Amino acid sequence: MARITFIEHTGKRIEVDAENGDSLMKAALASGIDGLTAECGGCLSCATCHAYVDEEWVDRIPAPSDEELVMVDCAVDARPNSRLTCQVIVSDAMDGLVIHLPASQY
Ligand code: FES
Repeated sequence: MARITFIEHTGKRIEVDAENGDSLMKAALASGIDGLTAECGGCLSCATCHAYVDEEWVDRIPAPSDEELVMVDCAVDARPNSRLTCQVIVSDAMDGLVIHLPASQY
């Protein structure tokens, strides 16, 4: 389990206890967090689960796959620290991870 902090674009911080093996997307949606629409349900075909990994954590979580890198380019306002949250799988090592949610997925 890892405690993840999601920061909405408004600055509102929400802490979530995420289970190992779940995606960040699933943990966020289960906690009612706004900002992820996740239209494809985690199939890596929509990019509407886009979020920004806090700069301090970019190199501390597993790197994206080539497939994720292709799809994240489709996200609105993609940046070097952009990830698709359905592709980031929670582990104990992510305890304290901070994720910034974009203002919009469209
Ligand atoms: Fe569609 Fe992540 S939910 S790519």
